[in-house]
Amino acid sequence: MNIDWNKLTFHYTETDYIVRAACKNGVWEHPYATCDKMIPIHAAATGLHYGQECFEGLKAFRGVDGQVRIFRMEENAKRMYHSAEGLLMTPVPIELFCEAVLLALEKNIDFLPPYETGATLYFRPLLVATTADISVGPGKDCEFVVVPTPIGPYFPNGFKGMPAIVNRTIDRAAPQGTGCWKVGGNYAASFRASEAAHAMGYECMFTDAKTHKYIDECTASNFIGIKHHESGVENRESYFEYLTPRSTAILPSITNDSLMTLAREMGMKVTRRHIRVEELADIQEAAACGTACVISPLTKVYDPNNNITYSFGDKPGPVLTKLYHALQDIQYGRTEDKHNWCYRL
Ligand SMILES: Cc1ncc(COP(=O)(O)O)c(C=O)c1O
Repeated sequence: MNIDWNKLTFHYTETDYIVRAACKNGVWEHPYATCDKMIPIHAAATGLHYGQECFEGLKAFRGVDGQVRIFRMEENAKRMYHSAEGLLMTPVPIELFCEAVLLALEKNIDFLPPYETGATLYFRPLLVATTADISVGPGKDCEFVVVPTPIGPYFPNGFKGMPAIVNRTIDRAAPQGTGCWKVGGNYAASFRASEAAHAMGYECMFTDAKTHKYIDECTASNFIGIKHHESGVENRESYFEYLTPRSTAILPSITNDSLMTLAREMGMKVTRRHIRVEELADIQEAAACGTACVISPLTKVYDPNNNITYSFGDKPGPVLTKLYHALQDIQYGRTEDKHNWCYRL
């Protein structure tokens, strides 16, 4: 093995093994590791034709103490369970999901980057319906795969911000559709918007598909806004408010959930509600959050419909910086894991 840990990006680097388990007639087989990265799949599989598939993303970290930690694995297992139910697939039992991830880690332990590099071992669990059937309807047989890959730190040159653009022209997911599940179709539907945004140097910020008035989320991350309330208003001391969209079309981010817990512990007010795009004018710090980046601060958000730019400064704000370090400290074992978020090996 010859990996330059410092050159890793968020692209696929092959490891020795993937882990597989098939479900036939509703019965799951035991997960097993294999060096063969190809999964044979029938050309008439409903997963290929009708997009009946879902996936997950989670990371293992080598801690400051040398211990290996997988962050909130059971939450990913539960989310994939819900995604599978949403597509009428046979869900992967929670224990089987965790067993498969642990096996993938054990068999590829040499691919877990050293602590100092800031790189991690990322797992991409995938569930795809394999039933051969051309008639439009759900297949019951499926294949579960865990594909590991080492990935570089999201911010190789330090914690930095990026600009985003408000998108009102291409919808990613409908309010009563599949946006709350991690299914491939949502991502395929988002490519036109996200690639157009990237070509202009922006991250894409999706708005709700019904009215296009409210912030939904970014391409692969939830949105967070931090509002600094000054003292004296309503006779209160100054305080910080953690704002994040309430929407049925966004993925319930495990990172966002963790950050909300940490924000509450830091004494912040946490509010989950519809957030109008114009409210960006009243927010002092803004970010996208997710497994890949933890927190990716937004330097500005450009709204092309109204030709307005909401600026948040070139440097990450103090509250987001504090939250970012608080979560990373737990993931790398630099602080107590009070909530038992990490599975330790
Ligand atoms: C659409 C979308 N929203 C949000 C997230 C962030 O979720 P998590 O924090 O669980 O990675 C992701 C990444 O998984 C995503 O793809």
